[in-house]
Amino acid sequence: MSTIIPQTMGQQYGRRSWAEPWKIKMVEPIHMISREERAQNLIDAGFNTFLLPSDGVYIDLLTDSGTSAMSDRQWAGMMLGDEAYAGSRNFYHLVEAIQTYYGYKHIVPTHQGRGAEHLISQAIITKGDYIPGNMYFTTTRLHQELAGGTFVDVIIDEAHDPINPHPFKGNMDIAKLEALVNKVGAEHIPYVSLAGTVNMAGGQPVSMANVRAIRQWADRYGIRVYLDATRMVENCFFIQEREDGYANMPIAAILKEFCSYTDGAWMSAKKDNLVNIGGWLAVNHEDVFEKARNMVVVYEGLHTYGGMAGRDMEALAIGIAESVSDDHVHSRVGQVRYLGELLTDWGVPIVQPVGGHAIFLDAKRFYPHIPQSQFPSQTLTAALYLDSGVRSMERGVVSAGRDPETGDHRYPALELTRLTIPRRVYTQAHMDVVAESVKAIYGARDQERGLKMVYEPDYLRFFQARFERVGRG
Ligand code: F0G
Repeated sequence: MSTIIPQTMGQQYGRRSWAEPWKIKMVEPIHMISREERAQNLIDAGFNTFLLPSDGVYIDLLTDSGTSAMSDRQWAGMMLGDEAYAGSRNFYHLVEAIQTYYGYKHIVPTHQGRGAEHLISQAIITKGDYIPGNMYFTTTRLHQELAGGTFVDVIIDEAHDPINPHPFKGNMDIAKLEALVNKVGAEHIPYVSLAGTVNMAGGQPVSMANVRAIRQWADRYGIRVYLDATRMVENCFFIQEREDGYANMPIAAILKEFCSYTDGAWMSAKKDNLVNIGGWLAVNHEDVFEKARNMVVVYEGLHTYGGMAGRDMEALAIGIAESVSDDHVHSRVGQVRYLGELLTDWGVPIVQPVGGHAIFLDAKRFYPHIPQSQFPSQTLTAALYLDSGVRSMERGVVSAGRDPETGDHRYPALELTRLTIPRRVYTQAHMDVVAESVKAIYGARDQERGLKMVYEPDYLRFFQARFERVGRG
């Protein structure tokens, strides 16, 4: 194998070996069911990994959302839940943690990320507005559309190319932002929707130079900049690793600086923040805060709990502090990279460079004989589950959905299958099992056939759509 340890990790610790900054105190048994049972499960689930019962899954790489292992400190915090309907002490701890580590002024808690997306979209989008962003995310774009807006992708072209080695493939193209202003007028652009590590591009980071340039550009037109901070801590790892001047700055300081160029953020705390449920919206402007704080009582819960129990908010406040520790972030991204380097060495086509939270298999190169209309990435999720009980997720044409204007499938350039690594959950041996299974199905790729969609829900179809195999039986 080529080097497992990225340069900065070796430099930081002065030696090659490293390991997780924790040890295991409680375990959850898992086991692999038989191939026959897995084959039956696939048919019952309509070849959609979201519809599989988790008891039928061996290693669950569906998502890194809400799947983290909490620390003993977080579990201890759960016992300190103040379940008062109003003014829970845990809410104040949460506010303090967000202000300390992200630096925003006003906080509105929500049950998870999409609750916060709903609030910000309804608060500041007017029908007919345009919202530029660095590649769409499924729930983010849907909430922008439901508020009457149109999402416009302004990510750099390199992001759509799975093998382009650009170090910051999450960056926005300022020329594309400028072109949008020229086309629709600044008054129809309420904000720039900037995501830290771009999920759909393969977990690719945004540079500090880029967020600074976006801020400068937005100030010229009086446009606000809001951040999807869901995996922003992981983004900071890449800035520390790759951007001049940041090698010796702690992750926490990089995070604070990055956020200082934005007007607020929404957060799925189920990712970076190391909890199983929760989210928040944080904004600096009083007017947006007023609206969001009023709306949260309609859709989520009172503005001092927003759908979370007091104990959840305490675990979240502690999780935020743990999530910005350099040791934690290095080992988290290091594990993802370990799996990526195994697959790269074995010649399996994956998105390069490897991002922060997942390995993305490139289904177009994996199954060149399966047309995109037959869902190659969905096919790959099914093949992997059948081979080893490993659950992954489609991030291609199914996730992209239909164009609201034409009703046609959107055919994204990236047709990917995501192997998402939960935080602090699996070991290196689990990564080896996953890599070996991917290698095995890659070896047998010629025999694989595509799928046809036989049921399609109206919204976010990838969660509930059903499929059958095309061709023979
Ligand atoms: N933004 C990003 C970048 C996300 O990845 C997600 C969720 C959300 C917002 C919405 O947050 O799930 O808490 O409501 N992503 C999950 C995933 C579902 O598997 O990538 P949520």
